[in-house]
Amino acid sequence: MKSYSIAVIGTGYVGLVSGTCFAYVGHRVVCCDVDASKIERLKRCEIPIYEPGLDKLVAEGMQQGRLRFTTDIDAAIQAADVIFIAVGTPMSQTGEANLDYVQQAARMIGTVINGYKVIVTKSTVPVGTGRLIAQWIGEASHNQYSFDIVSNPEFLREGSAVYDCLNMERTVIGADRPEAAAIIAELHEPFGTVVLKTSIESAELIKYASNCFLAMKISYINSIANLCDQLGADVDEVAQGMGLDSRIGHRFLQAGIGYGGSCFPKDTYALRHLTKEAGCSFSILEAVIDTNEQQRLIVIDKLKQSLGTLAGKRIAVLGLAFKPNTNDVRDAPSLTIIPKLLEAGAIVRAYDPVAAEEARHVLGDQVVYMPSVQDTVMYCDACLILTEWEQIVESDWEKLHSSMSRPLLIDGRNCWSAEKMAELGFEYISMGRPF
Ligand code: NAD
Ligand code: UGA
Repeated sequence: MKSYSIAVIGTGYVGLVSGTCFAYVGHRVVCCDVDASKIERLKRCEIPIYEPGLDKLVAEGMQQGRLRFTTDIDAAIQAADVIFIAVGTPMSQTGEANLDYVQQAARMIGTVINGYKVIVTKSTVPVGTGRLIAQWIGEASHNQYSFDIVSNPEFLREGSAVYDCLNMERTVIGADRPEAAAIIAELHEPFGTVVLKTSIESAELIKYASNCFLAMKISYINSIANLCDQLGADVDEVAQGMGLDSRIGHRFLQAGIGYGGSCFPKDTYALRHLTKEAGCSFSILEAVIDTNEQQRLIVIDKLKQSLGTLAGKRIAVLGLAFKPNTNDVRDAPSLTIIPKLLEAGAIVRAYDPVAAEEARHVLGDQVVYMPSVQDTVMYCDACLILTEWEQIVESDWEKLHSSMSRPLLIDGRNCWSAEKMAELGFEYISMGRPF
């Protein structure tokens, strides 16, 4: 296997995990960031995000001298054969992807480029961005050096990012020149993954099309769940029956409070924007977005149906991260639901095994953050489950039941069987399942 010298620009969830995994399989990797405090922590082998298994791999990469961290982005660019751009592309006010960080990274590359490089976009970017990156680098470098642009979208999930990276199901390589695609394919060889070579535009669209398709599955099953609530069917049984058809599959049919996170919400908006710009219509996507936004509020309706007014009621919220095994709260359903509870006059106590600090940055101190499930539910009038953390699901609910003022459990993630919770004496309400 050929070992490549790689620079990764942007050491966030994607840059840090992919850089670490590239080092793990034998490449020499320098992860760069403009955030000096993040890089300082990483140099001390402190991992700035909660991602299972990452600490061990980072330590190993650093010990073996294959993984380094720096704020000296210019030097990293100059020393690299291949440069990955993995900076954020957050949602702008109009819903489109904000390309400011990508543009900054491209201009940095163009300013210091010192020979042929393959420049790979890992960030999720609208179709046409690859061409723009080439233009920005060309302008900044006065076209002095040749380079290739490759689109290589990332498909890892937070919470299982290391596993996903080391066991990637496919790598999509969008390039104009086969020679550039071959370099990126060779770099991925140790992962033993399926390689799909496409045009740059197709690769860029594959990323959005995939994320929005998954978001569609979630909104679809959530709409079925809402129907189940009205018709007395059980969404788990319906999903199981649907999933047995291999054309449908079981995955991403877990009903609940809707999708959150740094990607599905922003990527559905970005594709909607892209569609409008292209003069096309995509009404399914509109429905996916709308359904998801409504879905978050359903737990509040369910709560009001049981409690009447929420004013002065003590509500325990379990789970703040957008999914288990991450401390990421970007666009987490909790950040929509908790302000609505507060607005309605409820007193909110919340618990998350790792994301409380991150949530506090957004929600502030109107919420009381508790150190355990037990402390959170004590004397509460109702408990809302927003993230299916193992620490929450596996708690001793028999014991917790007796500490609640009213054992009303609104399960936004369908964590338990209704029968089991009824046996324990809970007033148990979940999503799309009879109680
Ligand atoms: P992030 O916000 O966690 O990290 C981005 C990093 O880039 C930050 O540390 C920031 O300081 C750094 N940065 C910004 N501008 C820079 C510059 N000019 N030079 C160097 N560093 C710079 O973002 P993320 O979650 O890792 O996402 C990155 C991209 O990958 C996004 O486009 C996202 O849509 C996509 N993506 C994310 C995931 C995920 O699970 N988070 C999965 C697949 C794809
Ligand atoms: C998602 C995709 O799964 C990744 O392939 C992609 O790389 C990534 O977005 C990205 O582009 O950033 P991620 O957001 O980390 O990954 O997490 P998921 O496991 O996909 O969950 C996203 C949201 O959907 C979570 O809020 C989760 O609770 C929700 N979800 C997921 C459901 O409500 N039901 C399901 O059946 C599955």
